[in-house]
Amino acid sequence: MKERVFSGIQPTGNIHIGNYLAAVRRWVELQNEYENLFCIVDLHAITVPQDPSMLKAKIRETAGLLFAAGIDPEKSSVFVQSHLSAHAELAWILNCIIPLGWMQRMTQFKEKSAMQRRTVSTGLFDYPALMAADILLYQADLVPVGEDQRQHIELTRDAARRFNAIYGETFRIPEAVIPEVGARIMDLADPLKKMSKSGPGGAMAIGLLDTPEAVRSKIMKAQTDSLRDIRFDEGRPGIHNLLVIYELFTGMARTAIERHFSAKGYADLKRELAEIIIGNLSPLQSHYRELTSDPSYINHLLTEGAQRVRPLAERTLSLVKERMGLG
Ligand code: TYM
Repeated sequence: MKERVFSGIQPTGNIHIGNYLAAVRRWVELQNEYENLFCIVDLHAITVPQDPSMLKAKIRETAGLLFAAGIDPEKSSVFVQSHLSAHAELAWILNCIIPLGWMQRMTQFKEKSAMQRRTVSTGLFDYPALMAADILLYQADLVPVGEDQRQHIELTRDAARRFNAIYGETFRIPEAVIPEVGARIMDLADPLKKMSKSGPGGAMAIGLLDTPEAVRSKIMKAQTDSLRDIRFDEGRPGIHNLLVIYELFTGMARTAIERHFSAKGYADLKRELAEIIIGNLSPLQSHYRELTSDPSYINHLLTEGAQRVRPLAERTLSLVKERMGLG
């Protein structure tokens, strides 16, 4: 039996190179080794206001980008969270066993709610319970994500252990798989903040569908520092971030990268990096255009994905209900 991989992505804003390097590209790499489930989490997206027609389009765009990046529908099930009501149902059940104090410790909620203040929804607070439901519903072994999701996966593990302790062995305890390099790609305008799909003013992310001109312009404007030498040094967040992106896209060793830039300046690094990113995104973008030329094709793949995973979700949900005496 192959171990099962589960991960999710929100269909909001523009999927960027941080999502790609820490998550999507790794999902592609893991495909042959594991059984794979990738979920487009539209129910998570509505924890903040969304324009309905835009959300519908973004769900298809996100799916198109996953397939264009190399997710193979033969090897992986890609599906939309709201197509399976079991996610919301299990989230409610988990709400009833997760102590409030655990939820109040979630740093992502604190950060996101601080930006919204009065309009913050109950759903945004409850976001981690729905995420736990996503993972536990499929009895996933491994959850490949970026660093920002670590705490949510810890909560998922705690929730599973608590449920198992109260009602008997029901859930498998999943493990986070977080890359050693590039688990947190930083924003180009403010390298002390993570790159984000829909960040506050000033945020600068490179979208997977960005034109070559947009990539060049964003990289050339990226914040650096007033030093000169090009070295991997975490104390210099701007340059460090650019070098990490360079490392991940080229696969070169750090020493080789530093040697390559030893007699060069920041402008050279930026010019080269921009072309490397453009060269990596270009095949993905043409594949995306092919895949989305027939809009019904993506819908078809998403329906098929949901059909494939439904029996797994239903099996867990009925076991949970039986254990709890529901119905
Ligand atoms: P989302 O949509 O914000 O991000 C998708 C994936 O990209 C990673 N990521 C980053 N990695 C490196 N640098 C960054 N700047 C960066 N920004 C985002 C995220 O860690 C993630 O792996 N809550 C999740 C979606 C989700 C999920 C799940 C994930 C819902 N249910 C169950 C795993 C398992 C989220 O909002 O990801």
